Amino acid sequence: MAGEQPSLAVIEEEARLAIAEARSLPALAEVRARFLGKKGSVGAVLRGIGALAADERARVGEAANVAKDRIEALVAERRAALEAGARDHELSARRLDVSLPGVRAPRGHLHPITQIERDIVAFFTGLGFAVEEGPEVETQWNNFEALNIPPDHPARDMQATFFVDGGHVLRTHTSPVQIRAMTGRQPPFRFIVPGRVYRNDRSPRHSPMFHQVEGFMVDERVSFADLKGVLYAFQRHMMGADVELRFRASYFPFTEPSAELDYRCLLCSGAGCATCSQSGWIEAGGCGMIHPVVLANCGLDPERFQGFAFGMTLDRAAMLRFGVPNIHLLFEGDLRVLGQI
Ligand code: DAH
Repeated sequence: MAGEQPSLAVIEEEARLAIAEARSLPALAEVRARFLGKKGSVGAVLRGIGALAADERARVGEAANVAKDRIEALVAERRAALEAGARDHELSARRLDVSLPGVRAPRGHLHPITQIERDIVAFFTGLGFAVEEGPEVETQWNNFEALNIPPDHPARDMQATFFVDGGHVLRTHTSPVQIRAMTGRQPPFRFIVPGRVYRNDRSPRHSPMFHQVEGFMVDERVSFADLKGVLYAFQRHMMGADVELRFRASYFPFTEPSAELDYRCLLCSGAGCATCSQSGWIEAGGCGMIHPVVLANCGLDPERFQGFAFGMTLDRAAMLRFGVPNIHLLFEGDLRVLGQI
């Protein structure tokens, strides 16, 4: 029976070839089982030992164990080679091409109104003004009466008001913050007030919500000359050193005297164009000396204190600076528009 078994030398040679040809770890495991497993060829030789003559048993048994060790060593060698190959393959498959151009992540920016607002606030804080804010739902006292606009005063028609219940309104301007800031405090005051305001008004140039900046200064010797100096410096900052300004007499209930500040249209240099409605000038905002009644409404002695105030729309400045033709484009949040600014 032992004579029918292939010799150990043949088994070892077959194993060497099969191991060398195993292309993967599972294939190698199969080859190992075929030769060294319980039912493998080497095992068959060992099982056949019982049928051998006594003096043969030890020799064949030892030779089989030596063959088994050699085959085991060949399997280990091949396994190491296959594992290294798999690692190399994986590394090359996952290789990064660091020379590929990157994909730039889209980057946002501050809203144009925020940019202008921060610019203005930075300018005035540089002049020693402090930022003051107030609520958008305001009492009629602060929004109108205290600012010298009594209930049946025609000036209320200048501002199409949104009424809220309980005698409140959506503030129609930032001027009520003058009242809040001055009541119960003692001058000197230098305040700048950015904020949202609301009017029942809609057109390509008007939005029911827009932004104003109010500024005011109160002390014992504040004059219209101070107002002019501050506004000239401010407009030069906003529009450039050679901006041309004019103060035009006007009327506001809360200032006396009152003026409107215009600057020479930058697009047509004053010749007249669509942006300035052919007038050559663009309104920058209203201003004046704070009315004595307003100071008294805040508990201040108008004989002792005077002040100037001004108010302007931010949105128009943003439209001009960024070339936005329609105010609503600023508030629709359309990234195709905002991305161009
Ligand atoms: N509150 C005014 C408005 O909304 C703007 C204004 C004009 C504010 C003159 C002032 C000022 O402080 O002095 O139309």
